[in-house]
Amino acid sequence: MAFLQKSMSFSLMGTLAISCLLLIVLWAQEAAALPITSHCKIDASDFQRPYFTNRTFMLAEEASLADNNTDVRLIGDELYRGVKMQDRCYVMKEVLNFTLEEVLSPQSDRFQPHMQEVVSFLTKLSNQLSLCRISGDGRRIQKNVQTMKETVKKLGEGGKIKVIGELNLLFFSLRNACV
Ligand SMILES: *[C@@H]1O[C@H](CO)[C@@H](O)[C@H](O)[C@H]1NC(C)=O
Ligand SMILES: *[C@@H]1O[C@H](CO)[C@@H](O)[C@H](O)[C@H]1NC(C)=O
Ligand SMILES: *[C@@H]1O[C@H](CO)[C@@H](O)[C@H](O)[C@H]1NC(C)=O
Repeated sequence: MAFLQKSMSFSLMGTLAISCLLLIVLWAQEAAALPITSHCKIDASDFQRPYFTNRTFMLAEEASLADNNTDVRLIGDELYRGVKMQDRCYVMKEVLNFTLEEVLSPQSDRFQPHMQEVVSFLTKLSNQLSLCRISGDGRRIQKNVQTMKETVKKLGEGGKIKVIGELNLLFFSLRNACV
């Protein structure tokens, strides 16, 4: 009986030791992977501010009323095709950059009063991603983002309205990919 207890406690110790070892290995792997994507992060609290969330959704709603093209969706799984999970935040960084630089800034006199507040909110998110890089080959990502940009360009004015109308989707995608 005493022997049995002893061997059981030995095997328990063994299991514990292996678990510890496994944890250390996992931790080391994570630490090794960290430098690449650790900057691809946005603070969760930024997505929990009712005021800016409300303004973003109000703006999107307003624009989507003016969007008469229901066949095209810009923000969706297409953007992630062939892209590794850990690079999704980088994809959204690129989409956010495009949205700010080529859609919202040139339209900043439209859709007031919400536009200005939403631009400053999204700029803050964009700044948090300024050091975000990808872990490997970025060609696939560039291609996906380029396809989206070309779709917007092809739709002309309507394309820009559509981007604004999908700001709610951009909000959710950024949160899902970067928090
Ligand atoms: C935003 O807030 C206003 C009141 O300030 C409210 O009427 C509106 O329904 C809210 N919209 C969303 C999308 O949360
Ligand atoms: C967009 O990306 C370009 C090139 O990386 C950068 O110079 C610019 O500051 C970015 N703009 C925003 C609004 O993040
Ligand atoms: C849809 O919107 C575009 C751009 O605002 C406009 O040029 C076009 O005439 C509209 N089409 C319809 C069917 O309303």
